[in-house]
Amino acid sequence: MRPLLGCSWGCCLLLLLSLEAQGGPDYPSAVPEQVHLSYPGEPGCMTVTWTTWAPARSEVQFGTQGSGPLPLRAQGVASAFVDGGILRRKLYIHRVTLRRLLPGVQYVYRCGSAQGWSRRFRFRALKNGVHWSPRLAVFGDLGADNPKALPRLRRDTQQGMYDAILHVGDFAYNMDQDNGRVGDRFMRVIEPVAANLPYMTCPGNHEQRYNFSNYKARFSMPGDNEGLWYSWDIGPAHIISFSTEVYFFLHYGHHLVQEQFRWLERDLQKANANRVARPWIITMGHRPMYCSNADLDDCTRHESKVRKGLRGKLYGLEDLFHKYGVDLELWAHEHSYERLWPIYNYQVFNGSRETPYTNPRGPVHIITGSAGCEERLTPFSIFPRPWSALRVKEYGYTRLHILNGTHIHIQQVSDDQDGKIVDDVWVVRPLLDRMMYR
Ligand SMILES: *[C@@H]1O[C@H](CO)[C@@H](O)[C@H](O)[C@H]1NC(C)=O
Ligand SMILES: *[C@@H]1O[C@H](CO)[C@@H](O)[C@H](O)[C@H]1NC(C)=O
Ligand SMILES: *[C@@H]1O[C@H](CO)[C@@H](O)[C@H](O)[C@H]1NC(C)=O
Repeated sequence: MRPLLGCSWGCCLLLLLSLEAQGGPDYPSAVPEQVHLSYPGEPGCMTVTWTTWAPARSEVQFGTQGSGPLPLRAQGVASAFVDGGILRRKLYIHRVTLRRLLPGVQYVYRCGSAQGWSRRFRFRALKNGVHWSPRLAVFGDLGADNPKALPRLRRDTQQGMYDAILHVGDFAYNMDQDNGRVGDRFMRVIEPVAANLPYMTCPGNHEQRYNFSNYKARFSMPGDNEGLWYSWDIGPAHIISFSTEVYFFLHYGHHLVQEQFRWLERDLQKANANRVARPWIITMGHRPMYCSNADLDDCTRHESKVRKGLRGKLYGLEDLFHKYGVDLELWAHEHSYERLWPIYNYQVFNGSRETPYTNPRGPVHIITGSAGCEERLTPFSIFPRPWSALRVKEYGYTRLHILNGTHIHIQQVSDDQDGKIVDDVWVVRPLLDRMMYR
């Protein structure tokens, strides 16, 4: 900023405030901000994404030494993103994919160009193959305001507790808000987590403005579908991310419901062909099929759209996921935590009464949308349903430890209770015959 000679204090302050209101420095900066990682679905790779306000080259410098020079280089591309708000703010989104990373090795990196570099971040390259035990943090509905789970997630991340994050829709509240500035603020707020761990996403209802353009532009998910639906493998698990929003915002494209459904079926067929090697199939989508919250959301209806499809019969997901033996379904949208007994078509299919999640005879659903946002928590209906196993109306997030091909450990962390574990279950399925629930 130029020195403001002859300007009184009040006037200076006013000027500063108005610059602040413009949401950036007084000239477009090429210094990277909003740095975050994602896994592009190819072993040995990691994608770095960041934002600048002026066009610039896209480079990542990286290495395995904690300090000193960063000997490795990778280049990528920037694309201009114009937000749909009246100011038509323009962001440059940079994407660089690092390749030939050594599995399980820790890297240090910085991103940017000669016009400005980020600070250094570190991450651990994902291990290859199926014989290791990934640890994930899972949550949805995290806002730029009231992001209750973030401080603890940040500490967990610093301690190297996770291999990846799954954010099950609803970001920032909302990324498009205030001409995209709320999105900028959110991406800065999550940087201490997302610049050090692959941050994997699916779209939620809060991303819908301008046809999900802020979601598509700001994240870099695997595949060529702008992150609306995709799948990837981590250790013994195949993870499918999809959009429940195609069932609700039909004016953006009726065809999307059918396209996604067909893709899901093909992907599930492929995953089942490889199921002996990689037994777990885990889905993540924003709006649940079932929930017992005290509101009027889709999941409170007996024939919810996500479960039974359009007009109660077209492209419903419960039959599809059951048919292909999906093990675990992760949801959010309700700002609370709810675990269901293994379920299909409103019937509980416990493995046994003593150990319901050992050899369950239907998929297990977890609804985890209480990471914290300005809308606060969602209450539950007074009477729990017979299919509801546990309900927690507290801020928090879920830890998922995929121990091996037969054992998954699920824990719910309460931020209201200073990190106390308020749910703790193991899901155990046999190695073979995973597709058939009987
Ligand atoms: C919205 O986006 C989808 C997928 O990116 C696209 O197929 C569709 O045509 C878009 N709809 C409108 C109305 O722009
Ligand atoms: C499922 O198991 C739980 C825990 O033992 C039990 O409370 C519930 O009644 C069981 N449901 C059915 C339908 O067996
Ligand atoms: C997975 O780990 C559990 C607990 O250690 C063990 O009992 C089980 O045999 C393991 N499964 C496989 C396939 O190695």
